[in-house]
Amino acid sequence: MAIFPQLRLRRLRQSEPLRALVRETQLEAGDLIYPMFVVEGRKLKQEITSMPGVFRYSPDLLPPEVKEVANLKIPAVLLFGIPEHKDETGSSAYHPQGVIQQAIRAIKDAVPELLVITDVCLCEYTSHGHCGIVVNGTVDNDKTLPLLAKMALSHAEAGADIVAPSDMMDGRVKVVREALDQQGYQHIPIISYAAKYASAFYGPFREAAESIPQFGDRRAYQMDPPNVREALREVAEDIAEGADIIMVKPALAYLDVIRRVRDAFDYPLAAYNVSGEYAMVKAAAQRGWLDEKKVVLETLTAIKRAGADIILTYHAKDVSRWLETR
Ligand code: PBG
Repeated sequence: MAIFPQLRLRRLRQSEPLRALVRETQLEAGDLIYPMFVVEGRKLKQEITSMPGVFRYSPDLLPPEVKEVANLKIPAVLLFGIPEHKDETGSSAYHPQGVIQQAIRAIKDAVPELLVITDVCLCEYTSHGHCGIVVNGTVDNDKTLPLLAKMALSHAEAGADIVAPSDMMDGRVKVVREALDQQGYQHIPIISYAAKYASAFYGPFREAAESIPQFGDRRAYQMDPPNVREALREVAEDIAEGADIIMVKPALAYLDVIRRVRDAFDYPLAAYNVSGEYAMVKAAAQRGWLDEKKVVLETLTAIKRAGADIILTYHAKDVSRWLETR
């Protein structure tokens, strides 16, 4: 191997064309998924305090918004619903006229080519705010499974292109796959939130989705942040049950997990740049403490460099605009 002075690593950094030529990681609008919050009702557009620039829309106001997303060459949106009615079993989650079911139809009517991905989890729909059925103060895994299957199926029936279970129950990918297959939806892929950690970075999301647990927390079902070997077992479990795309969440504090999963599994890998990651950048940028554009592009590039193929991010629209004018 050459050494200095023959070796000069600065030679390839002299100009932007040179740097572009040897650049190892490219960020593209085509890798992004834009998460959106849909609130039941009409003519509602509510900004989320802790997520400036992110709104909750009622289904009737979605068409212009998703047209903009598609025009920005972002291939997919991920939908979260905020229902009017919450109960112990989250029954609004699988109602044919539920908020997400309405939203899917509105989006597919307006922009048929835009992929609609739905979050499959009960926490926005239950009165207690947990991701499953509560029995004796704990979330009952096996009683929750049939409801998740019902919810995913109802999204497919409304026209969803992909379903994304995010509840962290064991066995959910299996029951969702079975339910879809039995009803003729063999072609609908599953993105599983395979390694989803019990993270403080979901704070702003829970305000946005009104899904704060009314007692306790989610540590009995979401993963313990110090663990990475366990993440590989979670991913293996979901792949065995039929997941098509796997996800690590959050992204920034879990880049090592993304890398380990990328090295161990030849499956498309998504990473979720979550609400708290978005809020931190926005807050600092608003004070003039950080250059928002540079920080966001650097961060998302790092998530790709760590091994993610796909990034779910609230910055998606801005990123697409920035990449176009680069
Ligand atoms: C639902 C769900 C959550 C997020 C995505 N799906 C919240 C949670 O688990 O409490 C978080 C997304 C974000 O913070 O941007 N279970």
